[in-house]
Amino acid sequence: STSPTLDIAVIAGDGIGPEVIAEARKALKAALVPESASVTFTDYTLGAEHWLSTGETLTDATLEALRGHDAILFGAVGADPRHATIPSGLIERELLLKLRFTLDHSINLRPSRTYPGVATPLAKNEDFDFVVVREGTEGPYVGNGGTIRRDTPEEIATEVSLNTAHGVRRVVVDAFRRAQERRGQLTLVHKNNVLTHAGSLWTRTVTEVAAEFPDVSWDYMHVDAATIHLVTNPQRFDVIVTDNLFGDILTDLAAAITGGIGLAASGSINAEGTAPSMFEPVHGSAPDIAGQGIADPTAAVLSAAMMLEHLGLQTAATRITDAVNAQLSEWAAAGGGEGLTTTQRGDAFADRIASL
Ligand code: NAI
Ligand code: MG
Repeated sequence: STSPTLDIAVIAGDGIGPEVIAEARKALKAALVPESASVTFTDYTLGAEHWLSTGETLTDATLEALRGHDAILFGAVGADPRHATIPSGLIERELLLKLRFTLDHSINLRPSRTYPGVATPLAKNEDFDFVVVREGTEGPYVGNGGTIRRDTPEEIATEVSLNTAHGVRRVVVDAFRRAQERRGQLTLVHKNNVLTHAGSLWTRTVTEVAAEFPDVSWDYMHVDAATIHLVTNPQRFDVIVTDNLFGDILTDLAAAITGGIGLAASGSINAEGTAPSMFEPVHGSAPDIAGQGIADPTAAVLSAAMMLEHLGLQTAATRITDAVNAQLSEWAAAGGGEGLTTTQRGDAFADRIASL
């Protein structure tokens, strides 16, 4: 076989973003050595600091350049409120949402699982392992609404949820494929008894697509019930597929029950492969600990593993997740790895990856 070169765009961003991304890069390089594949990184300076110094969020030229890469590794963006104020929502809208919508990141992936030695806030300490497949470009997040008679007692505000047959189908197909590769169980989460129009489209789509995946069993759960089951019985889930708003809320709950923002990884996937997908830790720029070299790089390292899996390098991806598992176990046995620096953690992961 050939020796592929992965062409990765890196948006390290602000605060602890660059600190954790440095460790993710080490992990990626180490994981690719036995594949005789190599990786090149192209850095893009974007984020709050970049806006403060240039007034630019994301130019069309930068977007076009990003399009040319195989994937994007993203750290976090956000200003330190002690030093600067940025118009509320500017970076979210003009950088994060613009990337997501322009690169058509229709699927937001958030795996959620227990890790050795990492305490979860759940009383019942049983292992679980599921993934939320959240629709990323539709639902109530499209800005389809308006306000009239603003600031009067007669004010009217609308926020219409947009659901297209195409958009629902592609995320449902993706979720079934993932279930097929996992434990063969898919749960549609919605509120189809009350949100009957969108709920019906989602339910009919899942029913139709299920016929193409006879080896996957599926069930339906209302979103309110799902919040109960995620806390009392997360073992019951394998793949959850849901809309943009429900997915936003459920994935934060899912991150909370795994016991740490330092562990939550995510992928924003372009389902059709028409633009690069983006992989990033769920956490933000953490201005409270930035610059101290103490951020946990695990979520960034696990995001790099998701990126490798997406790019078809499953063995290299598993090398990273196995190494993280083994290293977290070792630290747990030694009392939790408290007090380790970002670099010490990243180096330990990279050494373990190299030894596998
Ligand atoms: P945050 O995730 O940055 O921090 C929340 C808390 O978790 C802080 O106490 C922080 O120290 C801690 N924390 C986060 N990541 C950690 C890590 N890897 N290791 C150890 N501790 C960690 O969320 P916050 O404080 O609400 O937001 C800070 C900035 O980040 C804001 O400007 C926000 O808009 C931005 N943000 C950006 C995101 C992105 O780029 N996708 C996502 C979330 C927030
Ligand atoms: Mg959120």
